[in-house]
Amino acid sequence: MENKITGVKELALEEKKVLLRVDFNVPFDEKGRVSDDTRIKMALPTINYLLEKRCRIILASHLGRPQGKIVEKLRLASIKKPLEELLGQSVALAPDSVGSETENLVKKMKGGEILLLENLRFHPEEEKNEKEFSKSLARLAESYVNDAFGTSHRAHSSTVGITGYLPSAAGFLLEKEVAILSKLLEKPERPFLFILGGAKVSDKAGVVKNLLARIDMVILGGALAYTFIKAKNWDVGNSQVEYDKLDLVKTILEDARKKRIEFHTPLDHTIATKIAADSKYLTTERGAIPAGWIGVDIGPKAIEEYKGCISRAKTVFWNGPMGVFEIEPFARGTMEIAHALGSASAYSVVGGGDSLAAVKKAGVAEKIGHLSTGGGASLEFLEGKVLPGIAALQKK
Ligand code: 3PG
Repeated sequence: MENKITGVKELALEEKKVLLRVDFNVPFDEKGRVSDDTRIKMALPTINYLLEKRCRIILASHLGRPQGKIVEKLRLASIKKPLEELLGQSVALAPDSVGSETENLVKKMKGGEILLLENLRFHPEEEKNEKEFSKSLARLAESYVNDAFGTSHRAHSSTVGITGYLPSAAGFLLEKEVAILSKLLEKPERPFLFILGGAKVSDKAGVVKNLLARIDMVILGGALAYTFIKAKNWDVGNSQVEYDKLDLVKTILEDARKKRIEFHTPLDHTIATKIAADSKYLTTERGAIPAGWIGVDIGPKAIEEYKGCISRAKTVFWNGPMGVFEIEPFARGTMEIAHALGSASAYSVVGGGDSLAAVKKAGVAEKIGHLSTGGGASLEFLEGKVLPGIAALQKK
């Protein structure tokens, strides 16, 4: 798909007013400070390119899910300072994402200046991809660039509607994400290992099914592993199981068997009586989790086996932690997998907020081939879906 979308370099942008859609939907710590600025940093190449072209840059993003209302703590003002620090230049704040006040501010902008619009989702029309709202956004600029890969699975005014009214192109981040994820789907170097963890089978079933045609190995961890283990009739104690997904999981296991994919469930587990740092915990063999105990991490034998898979792989995609890694005694599996990936020779791609947090916590983020800024978007892309924000940038 990447050859078919228009790239930012294909637009004539010198000194133009450009509306740049970014995904600054970043996490915050308890003091209200940005706790992970990856998404901001990864938008910098496109912003810097537009600055070189002396564009007037109108940055547009959503933050959180305010559901069409003004929510004070979801104002984009919280992004201004971290963005200014990263750019080394000042950024003006608009009072709204559309409307006459914002239009007047844009009129006064000079080449090389940046205006950050208020949270797009304060307007309910944004998520409805409403025509008049799309036009109001388009009125602010002469060209549109979308670098918000993380939001490209949403058909909103700022990702789709606006492209009907302005010359439109993909920014460098969006192009890079599409190129890397397309390579995973189309020509990954084999063996290709999929490390699958996290909470729910339901969130990941689509991507597992689509990747089964492309991968050689799967290693499973996280809460979703217990639904697979239950499907094999092993004891899972009080671990979380999605009973309504057992048939689906059996189909996946059967498909993997037919395709001769190595499909590893954890050989052993760390189990606890409750999901809390002060819980009792111990290690148990696979299929032997007693009643009253919950699986909270993969065990030491599983870790060793999984490290072996990582060292044999040439391509790795990781989505979802191996255990409840926010709680120190249950973080070992996730941390060891992150370290193994950091020192592996394989080309690695990590997607999803929790997995990104894990590689950062392990201090190996710099050693990962690509950190995808899309959570839901990267999963939907790897499911083989056409993402509306990307489709809207396709060459006619
Ligand atoms: C994300 O964090 O995945 C994107 O910013 C999209 O956010 P959304 O799921 O609220 O649309």
